[in-house]
Amino acid sequence: RPLVFSGVQPTGNLHLGNYLGAIRKFVALQENNDCIYCVVDLHSITAQLVHDDLPGQIRSIAAAFVASGIDPEKHIVFNQSAVPQHAELAWIFNCVARIGWMNRMTQFKDKAGKDRENASLGLLAYPSLMAADILVYRATHVPVGDDQKQHLELTRDIAQKFNIDFMEHIRARGYGVDIVVGEEPIHAYFPPVEPLIGGPAPRVMSLRDGTKKMSKSDPSDLSRINLLDDPETIAKKIRKAKTDPDALPSEAEGLKGRPEAENLVGIYAALADRTKDQVLAEFGGQQFSVFKPALIDLAVEVLSPITGEMRRLMDDTAHIDSILRNGGERARARAEKTMREVREIIGFLQ
Ligand code: TYM
Repeated sequence: RPLVFSGVQPTGNLHLGNYLGAIRKFVALQENNDCIYCVVDLHSITAQLVHDDLPGQIRSIAAAFVASGIDPEKHIVFNQSAVPQHAELAWIFNCVARIGWMNRMTQFKDKAGKDRENASLGLLAYPSLMAADILVYRATHVPVGDDQKQHLELTRDIAQKFNIDFMEHIRARGYGVDIVVGEEPIHAYFPPVEPLIGGPAPRVMSLRDGTKKMSKSDPSDLSRINLLDDPETIAKKIRKAKTDPDALPSEAEGLKGRPEAENLVGIYAALADRTKDQVLAEFGGQQFSVFKPALIDLAVEVLSPITGEMRRLMDDTAHIDSILRNGGERARARAEKTMREVREIIGFLQ
């Protein structure tokens, strides 16, 4: 079975973008894959070192995973810092990756802003740790939102450089397999990673501005639907969502140049497990005064059971902690198997 890995940072409230771009896909992938879902607490200290309630934030992400339908017994749910092998492999990848690769990351440029010299070294090295998260399990499939695409390309570059630089060592130790990456046949220890970004809402946009990503850092709470919002708040935010004056088109093609309309139709489609064309076959020709109430009903129907269960689980800290502890143990055993081989490939004595 293919091995799926993904992670979510324990910073701020989860929103509809995190749910549709990532968590809802995590749930769907459980059926035919072996899945590892991680609360990436080590990543959360790269942009902001000190958090008021990091344990609570970590638990709330784990609660969201389980409340959304992830089965922590059949699959693995854990927090990153419980498996020190992630940080160990990240160090090695810091020596594989080049500074120029990191400097080109748009997320680094956005988050570091103008004062780059003053950003943490961890923020620059962030994608190395992300590559380590995935490759310490030699996972092949990574469901994420569109904003993580560049980081996954870098993960492929890191794997490729490691494979090529250590190719003779990998072969000599009897590890790895022959694969073709691009045109090039190589003997690879780490597999090429496939991002899973598709679907109707790979990039959920702000409800106030269809050209900006929905994000936890937007100062306007009206710009996003939080997973912990109650039905009245969801309804209010959708009612106030920016739109244009025209009726909906009858095909997805007609949404071009209408970012707000495209966003709301994409959200509806993702929540209903339909395509945008299917949604427009039903709502084409209708005004937003008809579409918005339908979207409110659907969003509340899908999200409120998750919100309720998430709140319940967040109060049951003993239960969440035992899920994380158990997942951490299982993850550690797998990660250590890779690290024993990696240390041997590099030539560290152990
Ligand atoms: P994070 O915590 O910022 O976001 C978690 C997931 O939510 C997706 N996402 C969105 N999808 C669609 N529309 C949006 N507006 C939107 N906003 C966020 C993100 O793409 C992500 O899938 N670096 C990662 C965490 C990470 C990771 C990994 C992911 C660390 N290690 C290894 C995959 C594999 C991040 O900061 O996600």
